[in-house]
Amino acid sequence: MNAPTLGSYPQKRMRRMRHDEFSRRIMRETHLSADHLILPVFIIDGKNKTQVIASMPGVKRHSIDQLLLLAAKCVKAGIPALALFPAIEPHLKTPDGKEAVNPRGLIPRAVASLKKHFPALGVITDAALDPYTTHGHDGVLDARGYVLNDKTVAVLQKQALVCARAGVDIVAPSDMMDGRVGLIRKALDEKGFINTRILSYAAKYASGFYGPFREAVGSTKNLAGGDKYTYQMDPANAQEAIHEVALDLAEGADMVMVKPGLPYLDIVRLVKQTFKVPTYVYQVSGEYAMLKAAAQNGWLEEKRCVLESLLAFRRAGADGILTYFALEAAGWLQEGA
Ligand code: PBG
Repeated sequence: MNAPTLGSYPQKRMRRMRHDEFSRRIMRETHLSADHLILPVFIIDGKNKTQVIASMPGVKRHSIDQLLLLAAKCVKAGIPALALFPAIEPHLKTPDGKEAVNPRGLIPRAVASLKKHFPALGVITDAALDPYTTHGHDGVLDARGYVLNDKTVAVLQKQALVCARAGVDIVAPSDMMDGRVGLIRKALDEKGFINTRILSYAAKYASGFYGPFREAVGSTKNLAGGDKYTYQMDPANAQEAIHEVALDLAEGADMVMVKPGLPYLDIVRLVKQTFKVPTYVYQVSGEYAMLKAAAQNGWLEEKRCVLESLLAFRRAGADGILTYFALEAAGWLQEGA
């Protein structure tokens, strides 16, 4: 391209296509709809209960009956799937997180109930132990507090099977242990769950943006200032994300995820361009909290900024987005925002 010269200036008027809404529409490269949204939901035991989460205004923990009401709203709004996260009662937490493999635990009961009432709504559950452990880590520890890889993966296999038996559609290992996708796939296949999909949190970073989530599932105190640097990825690395995703795909992941979202759009782009597989992104609790807080203070226009952030994920290459804004966003999109 030649630099503009005085004689021909301006060579090309980019603003011409921006002049009217119709021509903006016909050149729009990226689209966002309810099809692209997945709602993460926090659940608790009990009846007819909801609990607010201080660091996530507008997000609640729901007992299973309340979860069903929320699921009905998601179906109506055209949201394809939910992702469940349990806040486990403290007396059920143990160092080995064994409540994670209880077939009558909160998660399997919630999955069965959702699949019974809303068979067409996709249900996703995590494979990770942090909601169930007294120390808040995603796996089991050795005497020095190091998360043991292979012992943890053996528990994750059982956790995935418990969820599959309850009817879950997608198992999402969010633990970052090595080799877990392959062994979970093997365990599922051996028991005949050949169509239970695996959405791997393949590039999950050791991020400060998970803070409010840890309050939501009640693992903050348990973690007691501890970090997850020995298993989650270093925020400084991008090439390593390619390595992680390649391994998870080779082990049988159907879909891969990048997490957190907005600070990691470069990783979303890199993963999508490199592998061309179904790629998801998690707009995590801290991102939600930032947007919500600014909106509540009147510093940002909520609808506009939320939809802009979701569109940015799509532009970067994400096929779908886990976001606590899913229901609101789907509503705004329906209004033709
Ligand atoms: C843990 C898990 C975390 C999130 C999803 N699964 C937190 C963590 O790794 O400590 C974070 C989600 C969010 O912040 O919204 N297995």
